[in-house]
Amino acid sequence: MIVPSAYYRPLALGAPEPFREPPVRVERMIHFVPPHVEKIRARAGDLARQVDVVLGNLEDAVPADAKEAARAGFIEMAKATDFGAAGLWIRMNALDSPWALDDVIEIVGAVGDKLDVIMLPKVEGSWDVHYLDRLLAQLEARHGVKRPIMIHAILETAQGVMNVEEIACASPRMHGMSLGPADLAASRRMKTTRVGGGHPGYGVLVDKGAEGAARAFYQQDLWHYTIAKMVDACAANGIKPFYGPFGDFSDGEACEAQFRNAFLMGCVGAWTLHPSQVEIAKRVYSPDVEEVKFAKRIVEAMPDGTGAVMLDGKMQDDATWKQAKVIVDLARQIAE
Ligand code: GLV
Ligand code: MG
Repeated sequence: MIVPSAYYRPLALGAPEPFREPPVRVERMIHFVPPHVEKIRARAGDLARQVDVVLGNLEDAVPADAKEAARAGFIEMAKATDFGAAGLWIRMNALDSPWALDDVIEIVGAVGDKLDVIMLPKVEGSWDVHYLDRLLAQLEARHGVKRPIMIHAILETAQGVMNVEEIACASPRMHGMSLGPADLAASRRMKTTRVGGGHPGYGVLVDKGAEGAARAFYQQDLWHYTIAKMVDACAANGIKPFYGPFGDFSDGEACEAQFRNAFLMGCVGAWTLHPSQVEIAKRVYSPDVEEVKFAKRIVEAMPDGTGAVMLDGKMQDDATWKQAKVIVDLARQIAE
């Protein structure tokens, strides 16, 4: 169910521009920064030139006694920094925490016009999105915010995964969704202490071979089911799916493999928690040059998108034309 909100605000109260549909920005990485750390705030302008989105993290990883400092630090950073083309987001605290209400009231009140997206953690159902949607509508009206602030849900509870379809269409403010593998693992009582990525124990043993031959074990992707479910819910509702965090900063290769699986399955970006992950996300979520060249050939071979042609021995038709168009459009968007 779509719940219109700020659409109905009277012009006299400064009605905002219509919601952007679908969001068109390139957002290959959502880069997390701790806004209570002064030296990070001081570098925010430089950072904004290197990443697609700068996110001030107020939630997990910020100690309870630094929550107010993180909120105030974010406001200071937002006021002092020119973020250029980069998006400016926050990850607020969860709605059942003592900090959530002040996060939204203080930040929208102080820098609502600079804020693009609020990432809402631990979303369990459409009711969580409705609550934030209405609160934002009130605050935008009170402070004359010109552009609707969008909502990005983290899919990180078993109940959230169960309700993913209704979350994806809960409000015209929905920007997208990210997998939150750490909280989701805890919520599901999975037996892991990792933040995203694979697990050496989760895989299949190949069939028994010759007597005495070693049997290969193939590790499998713990997150395949959830990402597929999230991508379908997002694609069906015109919003964007993202892989979330990858916690082992020492293993760039594994991070890249995990990000790439998500990209191939339809995700448009991932979180970067460490500077070393920025280049990885940029590489993975920008389509490969050879892939783009081939996709362009498909689009050009069928100017009206119909029919069937052979290219390098491979059959192309209306459906592969649409696949190719996804890749060509993304390459064009990144080049702009
Ligand atoms: C992110 O918030 C996660 O829980 O993985
Ligand atoms: Mg989490």
